[in-house]
Amino acid sequence: MRLRNIPAAEPAIEKSPYCIKDPNSLKGQWKMSISNNKPIYIEVGMGKGQFITTLAKQNPNIYYLGMEQYSSVLYRALQKMEEDPIENLSFLCYPAEELPEIFEPGEIDKIYLNFSDPWPKDRHAKRRLTSSRFLDRYAKIIKSEGYIEFKTDNIDLFKFSLEEIKAHSEFDLIEHTFDLHHNEKMNVGNVLTEYEEKFSAKGNPICKLIAKKN
Ligand SMILES: C[S@@+](CC[C@H](N)C(=O)[O-])C[C@H]1O[C@@H](n2cnc3c(N)ncnc32)[C@H](O)[C@@H]1O
Repeated sequence: MRLRNIPAAEPAIEKSPYCIKDPNSLKGQWKMSISNNKPIYIEVGMGKGQFITTLAKQNPNIYYLGMEQYSSVLYRALQKMEEDPIENLSFLCYPAEELPEIFEPGEIDKIYLNFSDPWPKDRHAKRRLTSSRFLDRYAKIIKSEGYIEFKTDNIDLFKFSLEEIKAHSEFDLIEHTFDLHHNEKMNVGNVLTEYEEKFSAKGNPICKLIAKKN
């Protein structure tokens, strides 16, 4: 998702109490300083924040972080938050590449990846957020027995992601489906993302996998 550049976005992010500006300084301190010892769940590539905002409202005992690399996209989530603040949610305008600089090993309880950019060309495979390059970073910051949950409508990306998870020594594939909305067990409590709404309305089945750090 890339919106046209919005000049107001960066200054708004800079002064907003809902955006964490110097996250590296919180490394190792997130539970003490920010989450009040609640578990921390992150959505990496949250887009305009529909999914994480809904989850945060539903689960006050969990602290949520929405991470998005583009300020113009994150700004949309921020505008909604300013109208209707949510205590257990903050935003980070940073790329996923920086996760290990921001969090200590084991500091994160769960990572959500929703409708991540597919990067269909083989030569761009390393940019996929479910590639081993990123799984290595997630493995560093997720606690033992913490989870990754990934949804997409892109079958090729999903098959690639299944293989990457199966090949990764620190994650075990717990369950997966190629048709989440017709999978009675996995669909319980499913919160729709913006892209999920859009693509399932077109009739695309939604794939989901859950992996656990061993
Ligand atoms: C296709 S959108 C999906 C948005 C949302 N998760 C949803 O399901 O509706 C993917 C989002 O991931 C963000 N993104 C892609 N690569 C990223 C990275 N390396 N770090 C942070 N965000 C990233 C993009 O900017 C975009 O907003």
